[in-house]
This record gives sequence, structure tokens and C-alpha cells, in this order.
Amino acid sequence: MSGVPIYPPADTTTHRTLVTGGAGFVGSHLVEHLLALGDEVVVLDDLSTGSARNLAGAAENPRLQMMDGSILNTKTVGQAMESCDRVFHLAAAVGVKLIVEQPLRGLRINIHGTENVLTAAIERQASVLLVSTSEVYGKNTADRLREDSDRILGDPLLSRWTYAGAKGIDEAFAKAYCDQEGLDVAIVRLFNTVGPRQTGRYGMVFPNLVGQALRGHPLTVFGDGKQTRCFSAVEDVVPAMVRIERDPRARGQAYNLGGAREISILDLAREIIRTLDSRSDIELIPYDQAYAPGFEDMRRRVPDNSKANALVGYEPQTSLTTTILRVAADLLARERLSSDAMPLVGTGALRGVL
Ligand SMILES: NC(=O)c1ccc[n+]([C@@H]2O[C@H](COP(=O)([O-])OP(=O)(O)OC[C@H]3O[C@@H](n4cnc5c(N)ncnc54)[C@H](O)[C@@H]3O)[C@@H](O)[C@H]2O)c1
Repeated sequence: MSGVPIYPPADTTTHRTLVTGGAGFVGSHLVEHLLALGDEVVVLDDLSTGSARNLAGAAENPRLQMMDGSILNTKTVGQAMESCDRVFHLAAAVGVKLIVEQPLRGLRINIHGTENVLTAAIERQASVLLVSTSEVYGKNTADRLREDSDRILGDPLLSRWTYAGAKGIDEAFAKAYCDQEGLDVAIVRLFNTVGPRQTGRYGMVFPNLVGQALRGHPLTVFGDGKQTRCFSAVEDVVPAMVRIERDPRARGQAYNLGGAREISILDLAREIIRTLDSRSDIELIPYDQAYAPGFEDMRRRVPDNSKANALVGYEPQTSLTTTILRVAADLLARERLSSDAMPLVGTGALRGVL
């Protein structure tokens, strides 16, 4: 036997696929991938954090249908799922800043909205890929988080934990619908997925630091900066999501999809400055100031990707340097289109990318 990863048999079936949250960061990359595979794609998105501009490259594709609406509206969800045989459920209130500031909105969308999607999928006998998060592991700093690792969450009265709480409930709903009502569902847990089109507006560290480096502003690193993460590139994660969705062995199972390299946020900031040839400094900001008094962050979050690797050959390929350059090129292209273009400095490193 060779060491080549075992993939499921080539699936040449095309689908009519609903992507909730398809105008968002991960969703728009997924939509493009599904269109390239030949699917008809329906996007349901209320454009709250996503944008039609994220799908500008696919807007003319006759196999893409856009619906502006909320997953909180059961009628809208039913209409969007009409004739669809599978759903990738990504619509969610996302981002630490947004969750801390508007916990009620997050809870409603992430719990009630998800149940609407799951029940509509049962009615239409559509399969579901539920997109969950490494946040469900909370403060567990295990060397490699496995899918069955314990969850260690903080005080449920702290709004900071409502996202992890709601996503955990989503997974429990999905599993219960699978076991009790026959829903064909698989779950993926994304770990700090990054890439072009991710916005820093809601507290995402990667685009924020890259944007600051491009502007020549100080890179604001929260806490002591020694907390570590494993960033994964959206272009590695999206094809794995599709392969997991169509593999019957994934039914009722959860899969980590994370990056391979553990890096502290301080080192990430240094690497961004170096890669972009930026003149910026680094400024440490206490968490109390960045979010709210008593804010808790994870010191470490490292995935064990072996379950997804064994199933569909998932292996992160894209280097951090490549992702930094791609995110910077994307931010520059978008800022050029906006009316309040930022003063850009130190972009010499990007000459080959733009
Ligand atoms: N990016 C990451 O690092 C990461 C990590 C873990 C999990 N995830 C999950 O991946 C999914 C996509 O996240 P993202 O990073 O692309 O964020 P995003 O904010 O870009 O995408 C979320 C999308 O959902 C839409 N949306 C929000 N509320 C809605 C509603 N009520 N009805 C319809 N649409 C609604 C938004 O407009 C947006 O387009 C989410 O479920 C998120 O929890 C992302």
C-alpha cells in the first residue's frame, strides 16, 4: 500500500445546494468552489456581516441564485431550500466583538436560526453540513484537541461564552435530529480560518493585524501576545468541507479542520510586519481595554486534524506567508474600491502578488 491518503470514490453527482451565510467570508469561497464543481447554488444571507461584493466574481453565473433573507424566518428558509438536496449551514453571528456586544442577537441566530435550518432540511430530506467552531472546546489547552476532547467553558453569564454555548447546542441539535429523526448531517469545527475577504470589523485578529501593517499603524496585540493559535487557510478548508459532506461515513460525526502550525499572536504580528516589509510597531493592549472587564481568552488552541485526514485526506498546505500576502493583496484591492482609501505604506513585498 502506498502512503497516498484515501479519498472517497470520485463523486460526479451535481447538486442543488443551499449555502446559508454564502455571502460571508468562508461562505463565498465555498460557493465559488461548489459552482466550479458544477452545482446549482442558492445563497441565503441577510448581508449583516457578509456582502454581495464577496460574490461579485460569481454574480453572472446562471447557476447561482441569491436570496437576501434571515435564517430566523422559517418561511424564507423553506423557500430557499426548495428543490435543494443538500445544505451547507454557515449563517451565524460571528466574531468576538459582535458576540460580546450583542449576545442576544448571537444566541437567537445561532440557536433558533440553526434549528430552523435543520428542521427544514428534514422536511425536504436534504443532507446538512453544519459548520461549527473550535470555540466549543473553550479553555481546553490540550496539546492536540480531538473531537471527543472535553469542553471547558467559563461562566455562562459572561456574554463571551455565548457563542461557544450556542454552537455546542447546534451540534447537539444536529446529533439528536440525526439519531432520532434520521437527519443526514455531518459537522465540521473550523479553527481560525483565514484568507481573502475576511473582515476585521468584528474582532478577527488576522485581517486586523494585516490592515494595521499596511497602514503603518501599530499592530494591536491583546494581552501579553503569548496566546497561540493554528491558523488555517480558507482554500485548504473549503474542499475538505465538501469532501466530508459527501462522505456517508461522516454522518452524525464531527471533524476538526485546523491549521498545522502553532504560533503566538505576538509572533504572528512579527511575521506580518516582516512579510509585508511594514514600518509598524507592535502595541500590547490589555484585554479589559480591548473587550470588556474580565474578558477571558484561550491561552492555546491546537487541533488534532487526524480524523479529517483519515476520512478525506485533509492536510493543510498553504503557508502562513502565502496567506499574509493574499490577505494583504485583497485588503489593498478592496480599499482601492472604497471611497475612504487608506494611506498605504510598506507594500513593496506585495509587488509580485498584486
Ligand atoms: N472564520 C473562522 O475562523 C471561523 C471559525 C470557526 C467557525 N466559523 C464558522 O464559519 C461560518 C462562517 O463564518 P465566517 O468567518 O465566514 O463569518 P461571516 O460573518 O463572514 O459569515 C457569516 C455569514 O452569515 C450571514 N448571516 C448572519 N446572520 C444571518 C441570518 N440571521 N440569516 C442569514 N444570514 C446571516 C452574514 O451576513 C455572513 O454573510 C460561521 O458559522 C462561523 O461560526 C468560522
